[in-house]
Amino acid sequence: MRNQSLFKLILLAALGFTAQSALADGAALAEKGSCLMCHTIEKRNVGPAFKDIAAAYKGQDVEEKLINKIKKGGRGSWGILPMPANEGKLTDDEFREVVRWIRSL
Ligand code: HEC
Repeated sequence: MRNQSLFKLILLAALGFTAQSALADGAALAEKGSCLMCHTIEKRNVGPAFKDIAAAYKGQDVEEKLINKIKKGGRGSWGILPMPANEGKLTDDEFREVVRWIRSL
C-alpha cells in the first residue's frame, strides 16, 4: 500500500515533468525557427497570436495544412500580411512539433 502511493507520486511527478518539458521544447523550437520575430503566444504581432491560432482550429484536422503553410508561406487567413516561407529553418519533425505545441496553447 505504502509502496503503491509512492509509485503514484513518482509517476505523477514524471508526468508533470514531461508535460512541462514538452512546453519548453515547443517554445525553444519557435525561438530556433525565428517564429517569435513575428508571433507571440498571447498577442497579435506581425502574425496572429499562437493562442488565437489554437482557438481558431480547435478540434479540426489541420495539422498538415498548417505545417505546409508555415513551410511554404501564405496569406489570407488572418489579414493582409503574408507569412513568408520558413522552409529550412526547422526540420520536418520540428515543424510538426512546433505546430502541436501551438495547438496545445
Ligand atoms: C515574417 C513574419 C513571420 C514569421 C517569421 C513567421 N510567421 Fe507565422 N504568420 C505570419 C503572418 C503574417 C501570418 C498570417 C497569414 C495569413 O493571414 O494567412 C502567420 C500565420 C501563421 C499560422 C496560421 C496559419 C493559418 O493558415 O491559419 C501559423 C500556425 C504560423 N504562422 C506559425 C509560424 C511558425 C511555427 C513560424 C516559425 C517557423 C512562423 N509562423 C514564422 C508571420 C510570420
